[in-house]
Amino acid sequence: MTAEPRPAALALFPDDVATQLEADTREVIARYPDSRSALLPLLHLIQSVDSFVSPRGIAWCAEALDLSRAEVSAVATFYSQYKRKPNGRYTVGVCTNTLCAVMGGDEIFGAVSEHLGIGNEETTSDGAITLEAVECNAACDYAPVVMVNWEFFDNVTPASAISLVDDLQAGREVTASRGPVVQDFRAVSRVLAGFEDGLVDSGPTAGPASLVGLEIAREHGWRAPAYPGAPEADPTAGTEAVGEPGSSADHQEGTQS
Ligand code: FES
Repeated sequence: MTAEPRPAALALFPDDVATQLEADTREVIARYPDSRSALLPLLHLIQSVDSFVSPRGIAWCAEALDLSRAEVSAVATFYSQYKRKPNGRYTVGVCTNTLCAVMGGDEIFGAVSEHLGIGNEETTSDGAITLEAVECNAACDYAPVVMVNWEFFDNVTPASAISLVDDLQAGREVTASRGPVVQDFRAVSRVLAGFEDGLVDSGPTAGPASLVGLEIAREHGWRAPAYPGAPEADPTAGTEAVGEPGSSADHQEGTQS
């Protein structure tokens, strides 16, 4: 029996990478009734290999999903999480939307930009950090917020942001305010492709400021209206504080390591 020939686009990758990529791709595609639905996670998978949506990655997605390269590119260029040039090990996203900007987001972005010597969507020469001004992260209760590879750092100041990027550049471990020890861009991209790293429940997921509404509702006996077929909500659920604000963060104001 002769082995099936390897798909042409995989020849663009080193052999060991191609073997793993092909196996992972098959696993992702098998999750969906229509293989085209696998494109978004596959683009993350490509970023876990190349740190961006590379031309060879586009070629592989197209071949694996029976799409044209133009179709794959059209999707990849629509979403800002898909990178069009090699990304740093850490994407440092400074929120500069309205509330964070009012609370100092613009100042933080300027301070980090000047400190690193790079502008928006640029990467430090050591490949450590890609700086981005990002849209609202729905974390306004802890504004101004910075995200590192999509993990939250709350109540940031220019000084704590600079300390944070210094730690990242030096290869020191950093822990998100409400999340795990931050993993590098390729590792996080693999998680986004659907391959768990076991860190999903690490660290607190919400802080007191996010739970104030629930506390007020509980004090007043307010309940969310039921909708047909849903079990009745437990009014006490989710109201336990999960740590003082920023208790797990090493980069809160005045607590930089
Ligand atoms: S405006 Fe920054 S998290 Fe909402």
